[in-house]
Amino acid sequence: MPQTRRAFLGTAVAGSASLVPLLQARGMEAGEWVALPKGFDANGVIRLNSNENPNGPSRMAVEAITRAFSDANRYTQTNDAVLRAAVAKRHGVKEENVLLGAGSGETLRIASEALTSSTAHLVAASPTFEQPAAHMTRLGRETRAPRVDAMLRLDLGAMVAASTGAGLVFLCNPNNPTGTAYPLSDVMSFIGDVHKRSPAAYVLVDEAYFEYCDLAGYDTAIPAALADPRIIVARTFSKVFGLAGMRVGYGIAHADTIKKLEPWRLQNSVSALSSAAAVVSCELGGHVKEQQKLNNEARAFTLKVLNDAGYKALPTYTNFVIADIRRDPKAFQAECLKAGVAIGRPFPPLDTHARISIGTMDEMKRALPIVTGLLQKA
Ligand SMILES: Cc1ncc(COP(=O)(O)O)c(C=O)c1O
Repeated sequence: MPQTRRAFLGTAVAGSASLVPLLQARGMEAGEWVALPKGFDANGVIRLNSNENPNGPSRMAVEAITRAFSDANRYTQTNDAVLRAAVAKRHGVKEENVLLGAGSGETLRIASEALTSSTAHLVAASPTFEQPAAHMTRLGRETRAPRVDAMLRLDLGAMVAASTGAGLVFLCNPNNPTGTAYPLSDVMSFIGDVHKRSPAAYVLVDEAYFEYCDLAGYDTAIPAALADPRIIVARTFSKVFGLAGMRVGYGIAHADTIKKLEPWRLQNSVSALSSAAAVVSCELGGHVKEQQKLNNEARAFTLKVLNDAGYKALPTYTNFVIADIRRDPKAFQAECLKAGVAIGRPFPPLDTHARISIGTMDEMKRALPIVTGLLQKA
């Protein structure tokens, strides 16, 4: 006999004092996507700083996490196998093509460490998602970082030129923090050009924002990764699936490449709870569409408000926008925070740009007058 939701949660999360109010406050029956409850919103600050999904995870993911509690005292035995199979099914690849990780950040770290050396550098744009270059700094290895162009796009020509002798080329598509993207045809020509110049280099295509990208001709590089062991695609459950705090992501690559990277993983780096949430998220087609729609609406609204206020914000293919605020972004970030809105940190060398994540429409309607008000006051 099916349990009521309340009875089910009551037994499943008994002993987890902090989660009980969270789940009760969520009113899961109200909608498939779970809103952040009051008390978990950093004292009323509107959080537009980390490119998360403001609508929360799916109801099914929350229920799967709750169910997984009953095994929380056990080391994970089969979770990796189940999640690997779910990810493989989602992408129509084999399980041998999947590298699991604690966020896609783990795939980025492994690729950065395993595929570069003291003589084979990293190529990563400036600015782009900074994790791969940060690993190079920690290891004392070289990063060559061509600056984005005047339209804030990755300068593909300059990245190819920088790739001679590289161990790894990091192509963030769409790019964080600039929000720009390239169609698959450009990505494939880019990879071809890199390999002409540097046949041994690996190319890591980071598709963290894949589901938010509505650029014509945009598509995944996964088929290319299956065919060529020098290409890896990174994906995450942190963005459209609303599971940033659960830390689950993965890489897709040729089986030979996965074999090479797998030993660098921390064993069982994906927790049982995270794995359970990710497995059900692999089946959430319709829910993803709803999230895309909500993001598109709030993103269009945000771009219009910023551009109408005179702060150039270019089209973006992600769940954030970047605008030229014509002042120091660090000081402005601090001012916004004081006024109750957390926006992104500075992204050098863009010294007059602010990155603002897309919240719910309600959050954007409350946050943008504060942001533009502060800009116009100074
Ligand atoms: C482009 C990009 N790649 C990877 C990540 C890492 O995400 P996670 O480790 O949560 O999957 C982020 C996080 O913001 C990102 O923006």
